[in-house]
This record gives sequence, structure tokens and C-alpha cells, in this order.
Amino acid sequence: MNDLEQLVLDAQGDFQRSATPAELENAKARYLGKSGRLTEQLKALASLSHDEKKSRGALINGAKQQVEAALQARRQALADAELDLQLKAEALDVTLPGRRRGDGAVHPIAATTARIEAIFASMGFDVADGPEIETDWYSFTALNNPENHPARSMQDTFYVDVKDAEGRWLNLRPHTSPMQIRYAQAHAKKHAGKPHMPDIRVIAPGRTYRVDSDATHSPMFHQVEGLWVGENVSFKDLKAMYLAFIQAFFETTELKLRFRPSYFPFTEPSAEIDIMFESGPLTGRWLEVSGSGQVHPQVIRNMGLDPERYIGFAFGSGIDRLAMLRYGISDLRLFFDGDLRFLSQFH
Ligand code: DAH
Repeated sequence: MNDLEQLVLDAQGDFQRSATPAELENAKARYLGKSGRLTEQLKALASLSHDEKKSRGALINGAKQQVEAALQARRQALADAELDLQLKAEALDVTLPGRRRGDGAVHPIAATTARIEAIFASMGFDVADGPEIETDWYSFTALNNPENHPARSMQDTFYVDVKDAEGRWLNLRPHTSPMQIRYAQAHAKKHAGKPHMPDIRVIAPGRTYRVDSDATHSPMFHQVEGLWVGENVSFKDLKAMYLAFIQAFFETTELKLRFRPSYFPFTEPSAEIDIMFESGPLTGRWLEVSGSGQVHPQVIRNMGLDPERYIGFAFGSGIDRLAMLRYGISDLRLFFDGDLRFLSQFH
């Protein structure tokens, strides 16, 4: 074997052993670089005679072509291997089952609210929605709360550190009662100047907020306000209406209702509404479900109505409490923890 054949063999071996493109380029430099073995051969031609140059030159060129072909082949092989690895790493198993988006469901509190709305709608009540960020006037003053009433204190009510355009402090409404005023004002305005104003019959469910947190109190909770104002309404309408509601809500007529005297600044007289089931697991205990009362004349005035002409009845019930009773849940916080193991039981 002559020296050029040996050189080609060495180059082919070196290239073959190069495992990465960088190694391969280093190996290439040893043959084809500035002082590579082949380059040295070409340089050596200078000292040869014209005829020797011709024959030796042809041999060296032949060797060079073989070295370059080996280099090219190895380059291609390394690139192919690299691509192969990449494809394997990114491989998709098209036979795997697809990832499905889980079916959503209505939250039990939302379902309870919808149920309450449907029952009252069937009794001719409108359903109204209002702001959760309220002014002092709607949350308290219009509802006849004296300036020093404890409900106004920071211990009970979340205040927002911002005033509205008229410089009034804002709060997260601690009850849905402001909606009595908002709705009645709009209703009174709409029918102002007409000889007859249709009765106000509305419920306003929604979120409410208080500085309070334990198994039966959450800083965010839900109430439904009810208001019935007209010229010929009486306590017995409130009683009959609430009984019809509660029977429909719990899907039973086997329950009793009682109005227990109480106090709220915006009603006079005021009563707590208690219910007692006459069958089922909760039987035998009075359960408080709502505040209620005859709307205070000052509140009727704040609605923009004449208390000599109009009389109103109102109630405010805890939606979460109604849901807890209906589903038999003892810890309110479960509703708001967002634990799907709990929530998915209500589908
Ligand atoms: N707003 C009262 C509360 O949050 C509940 C209430 C009581 C609402 C009597 C009423 C009512 O409309 O007449 O405790």
C-alpha cells in the first residue's frame, strides 16, 4: 500500500470514529486543514519536476477526492442520526386516547339561586341584580340605620378605601337590602305621575360580604332579598308567599313556619322566619331561615314613595343556609373551597 492509500484509509477510519459534527470537523482539519496531511502532500509538489508534478498531482487529487467523499458521507450520516433522535423524542403516539376537557357543572349555590329565582318568578316576582360595591347611603342610611349602628362598624362591614364621585365611602354590601331601595326608586320613577303604580314584587339574589368567618359564616356569602310594595298588601301576604316559597323550595308541605318577633332598623314590626320540618332528618328543630318585616315608613319615603299610601313587606334570606339545609351540609366553607370532590356530588 502506498502512502496515499494509507492516508485515505486513515482518514476514513478517523471520520468513521467521529461521533459528533465537532469531532468530525477536527478530524477533517488533520487531513485537509492548513497543515493537514493531504495539504502537506500538495505543498511537497512544489519541489518536484514538471512531469513528476503531473503524475503525483493526479494521485494526490484522487486521494483528496476519496477523503472528501468520506467526509461528506460521514457528515450526512451524523445529520441523519441527529434527525432520527429528534423525531424519536418528539414522537406522537396517535393511538393514545385524546385528552378531554372535563364536563363542567353548575355550582350548588348557583343552582340553589336559580331554583329560588324560578319559584319566585312563578309567583310573579321580578328578579333584579345590583352592585356589590355600595355606598353608605344604600347600605345603611336609606335603610334607616342610625349613624352609630354597629352594622356600620369596620368590624362588621368591609369598607373599600375609595370614595365615589360624590365623596361617599364605599363598602362591600353587607346585605342585599340596598336592592330594595334601588329597585323601588327605579320603579317609583318609572310610574311617577301615573294614577296607579303596579305593585313592586321583586327578589334580588346575590353576593354579600361581612367580616366574619367560621363553619357557618363566610366573608363572602349569598342572600336573597324580597320586596313587595303596594296599596293593599298585608303581613298575611308575606306569610302566605313565604310559606309557598319554602314549601316549593324544599319540595314538601310537611313543614311549619313561624314568625318570631325581632328587630331590624328598616322594618317595623320585624320578625325572624323559622321553619320546622315535620318529617325527614331535620325534624323537630326550629331553623332560622330569614329576616323579614313590614318596611319602615322612613324606608318607603327613601324609596321615593308616600308611606301614607304604600305599605311594603320585605325579607332577606341566606341562600347558603337554604342550600345547606336542602343538601344536608354542616360546613358552609365547603361551598367555597373549590374542592371538586365535594362540588361534583351535586350534578
Ligand atoms: N338585611 C338583613 C340582614 O342581612 C336581613 C333582612 C331582615 C332583610 C329583614 C329584610 C328584612 O328585607 O325585612 O340581616
